[in-house]
This record gives sequence, structure tokens and C-alpha cells, in this order.
Amino acid sequence: MNIEPFEGPFGADVTDVDLANISDGDFERLYQAWLDHGVLRIRDQQSLDDAGLERFSARFGPLEEIPVKLPPEVKVKLPSLYVTALSNIEVNGRPIGGLGNAEAAWHSDMTYLPNPPPASVLLSIEIPETGGDTQFACQRAALEALPSELRERVGELRIKHDAAHTSVGELRPGFEEVTDPRETPGATHPIVLTHPETGRDALFLGRRDYAYIEGLPLEESEALLDELWRHAALSENVWTQHWNERDVIIWDNRRVLHRRDEFPATSRRLLKRCQVLARETASQHRSGSSA
Ligand code: SIN
Repeated sequence: MNIEPFEGPFGADVTDVDLANISDGDFERLYQAWLDHGVLRIRDQQSLDDAGLERFSARFGPLEEIPVKLPPEVKVKLPSLYVTALSNIEVNGRPIGGLGNAEAAWHSDMTYLPNPPPASVLLSIEIPETGGDTQFACQRAALEALPSELRERVGELRIKHDAAHTSVGELRPGFEEVTDPRETPGATHPIVLTHPETGRDALFLGRRDYAYIEGLPLEESEALLDELWRHAALSENVWTQHWNERDVIIWDNRRVLHRRDEFPATSRRLLKRCQVLARETASQHRSGSSA
């Protein structure tokens, strides 16, 4: 297995490895590379089926169960309860996955939880001819790009992260529309997050819409968020994944933001995803007290 860092502040290609049969020693190196580089791309994973994707992803931590209520007779037929589809494809008029063909704005996953997920794993199955690229922005580099006055100003501040909307701006089931960001439900996190495994600081913005900086008048919060977001995805700190079929991407949700381009509604796109949960979140799920 080889690890070849991208040019720029983050990201690496991992080659000569079959994730369906990765050895313990190679997994340890891959895990360290994920912490070191923030995003890993592993191309040409021909033998990774849903069960294999689940097995590989579960080595990073506990996985989120498919976030859709399904009848038990449907559940038992699924190859995995932990592999979600992101897709615009419909079968018998019903979408087989989430997010459709819309653009997804810059975000980290599930930051509205008190303990956001450490990792997300994507495997591409069908790719449109145009559009649907996924981009990543290094938030260590974004923090370093802040003017020193701004860096000092946000040092002790926290953002409330909206739980009510998805990354394509849709209201999640069970939530009511709230227009005032101060009223949105969701956890708060420091704007400068110290990574629990590497000890390195990064900006931790979550997503722009419905965010609120605790304790500030709304107008001041909005202005400061806008200023921070101007530094979040500078072109020199962004890497773009042009998908091939059977690529795997793993990112560190505490270190990078991601977004994706829209693509034509007439094209087909299907990605499989495993969401790795923080251990604290997983145990709350099991005891039934999750957000
Ligand atoms: C996402 O996780 O927000 C979307 C990723 C993608 O569809 O490329």
C-alpha cells in the first residue's frame, strides 16, 4: 500500500490496496494517513460490496444505522443496515437515496450533535458525465488564513449548529421551520476546534445557513460568520474530487468541510455512504437518548 500526498495543504491518494481485504497493519497506516492528511482517495475498489463497505468503515468506529424508518420485513432483506445511498435515481417513482441532484453547500456532517461524527466514507457506483464533483476545504489551513485580529476575536466564541436543515437546505422530518438563527435547535461548538486525536486546531464552522455565534447580537453574529466564511474555502485550500466509478473517499469531518456540485436531473448518480459516529453518540443511540 502506498500513500501519495496531494500537492497543497491536505489530502492523499492511497494505492495498491484492496479495502475489502485490508490487513491490520495496512489499516493502521491508512488510519494514521487519514489523521495526517484529512482526506484519502482510494481508487478502483472493484470488490467492495455493501457488506464490505460496512466492515471497512466500522474499523473507524461505530456506524450510524440507515436514518430511515423501515418495516422489519424490508430491513432483514438489506445487505447492510449501515450503508446509505446518495442518489437522484428513482425506482417505481421513489428515490433510492438522499440529496437528489441538487448542489450541497459547504458543511461538515451532523455538527448539530454534541459529538459530531469523526469520519465519513463514500463509494461511487454510478457517476454522471458532467457535474456532481465533491470538494473539500482544509480547515487547519483556513484557520491559518485568518487575519490575526480575527483569529484572536473568535478564540473563545462558540457557534450554534442548526439541526433542522440538510446540506441541500431541506427541512428534516420532525423539525419546524425557524427563521431566526438564535431559535434553531442544535449543539454549540467552539469556532476553533482542537482535534481530539491530533491536538491540532482548525476552524469548525459546520454550515453557514442558520448558524449563530452564541451571546452576540444577531447582526454582529451574521457579520462575523460572513467574515469567517470568506476564509473557509480559499481556492488554495480546496481540493476537488472528480469521481470515477469505484472510488472511495474517506474524510476527517473535524478537519475538512465538503460540498458538491449539482448535476443534470437526467443523469444518474449513485454513491454509497457509511457515517462513522463518535463513540459517545453511538452509546446514546443505543440507550435511546440521541438528539
Ligand atoms: C455530502 O455528503 O454532502 C454529499 C457528497 C456527495 O454527494 O458527493
